Amino acid sequence: MFSRSAHLYDAIYSYKDYAAEAERLHGLVEARALDARSLLDVACGTGMHLGELRRWYEVEGVDVDPQLLAIARERLSGVPLHQADMTTLDLGRTFDVVTCLFSSIAYVRTPEGLVRATAALARHVAPGGLLVVEPWILPEDWIPSHVAAVFVDEPELKVARINGGAVPKDDRLVLDMHYLVGTPGGAEHFIERHEVGMFTKEQYLDAVREAALDAEWDDEGLFGRGLVLGRRGA
Ligand SMILES: C[S@@+](CC[C@H](N)C(=O)[O-])C[C@H]1O[C@@H](n2cnc3c(N)ncnc32)[C@H](O)[C@@H]1O
Repeated sequence: MFSRSAHLYDAIYSYKDYAAEAERLHGLVEARALDARSLLDVACGTGMHLGELRRWYEVEGVDVDPQLLAIARERLSGVPLHQADMTTLDLGRTFDVVTCLFSSIAYVRTPEGLVRATAALARHVAPGGLLVVEPWILPEDWIPSHVAAVFVDEPELKVARINGGAVPKDDRLVLDMHYLVGTPGGAEHFIERHEVGMFTKEQYLDAVREAALDAEWDDEGLFGRGLVLGRRGA
């Protein structure tokens, strides 16, 4: 997924306010009167949320991509980081809070994948603990004519990442991300294909219920996409 662009990830998403998102997440945990000490971030990418969340929690991370994990390891010395797939994840222990943020859940692609991944995430939630999943864009909010673009303009790095015109088919989206990257060494163009599943609010909530957690939808969310919350009974 990110094999050609891992080294560009932090520059491309530098517009995201990870510190504010972590504060909001911590607020959600505190509002539920959870005396939470441990937190697992699944699909942690380069570890930007973990870097903030470790102010309050003993954190661990999981991602399937070794290149993104290598960047997270440099950022988060001393933090246990595991390479694993969220649909089969089994770390053999539980955490007070388990997160899966920035729509990473969409990469499971199918409704079956959503159920399997949610069950695996839920297996890691301690009694009384909280699961927080940030969904991908809901089907009713997808605008097929929208052309998405991100630009990076640093002294020695220019990037234009553009994708557009994707139409959901069988509740799946194929996004061809075109990158034009300029460095002191020259300019290159490449395409990365991302296949994601589009799930409804009910599919997200049902998956959490199937995993035996109490399900709740938070409209405000962290990044305008809402949040799916699952609470395990004490
Ligand atoms: C949009 S990025 C989000 C990364 C990070 N959470 C953030 O907020 O910057 C999606 C992440 O999901 C990871 N991912 C995709 N499929 C996965 C899977 N099956 N298991 C674990 N991680 C996965 C990717 O490697 C990538 O790090």
